[in-house]
Amino acid sequence: MQRLIELFDCVWDLIEAAGVLAKRPEGHWNSRAGIPVASASPLEQFDVSKYFESALAAAEKWGSKHVSSLLRKAANSLVWSQNESYSEAKLGDHFMKNYATGLLTGSGAPFACQAPPSGFLLLGPNIEYPAHSHLAKEVYLVLTPGAEWSLDGENWFSVAPGEVIYHSSSQRHAIRTQETPMLAFAAWLESGSRSAINI
Ligand SMILES: [Fe+2]
Repeated sequence: MQRLIELFDCVWDLIEAAGVLAKRPEGHWNSRAGIPVASASPLEQFDVSKYFESALAAAEKWGSKHVSSLLRKAANSLVWSQNESYSEAKLGDHFMKNYATGLLTGSGAPFACQAPPSGFLLLGPNIEYPAHSHLAKEVYLVLTPGAEWSLDGENWFSVAPGEVIYHSSSQRHAIRTQETPMLAFAAWLESGSRSAINI
């Protein structure tokens, strides 16, 4: 449990220090107790798990040492999943084998279940997460090098490790990787169902 608290505080310290319009969720849900040690849904069930260590190593090399170390320790406590509205038919086999999210907070997550959903997105190399949108505002804290973003269908731009990206309500955003797999922390700033993502 302590490792989840430390991880939560670490990523939100970095996001708040970046000065974007986002503050860590606070509320009565923040009781921070009673969490099982082992995840009910481990990362190893997903093909993309084979990139987890190399993504962590890339994050460490590029300066996200503290958060990487906390994430490595906490990974087995996160609830790893894929969006229930995503499928091979919709997004293709390649995408589904190269994507998973380790939920930290929100419904079904191991921690702060009544808070908006947040967690760690792991993408394999040379993959595009197609443009999508959702009503909830969102922030991303990117931990690895080589990721690129496209907002509102505009040109791709590079995002450096440690950079924070803000998505306004219903803003379309797409992500792609190059040879390095991507790890990023993503947090919705309002409650909502991930199945309501438009993609
Ligand atoms: Fe999003």
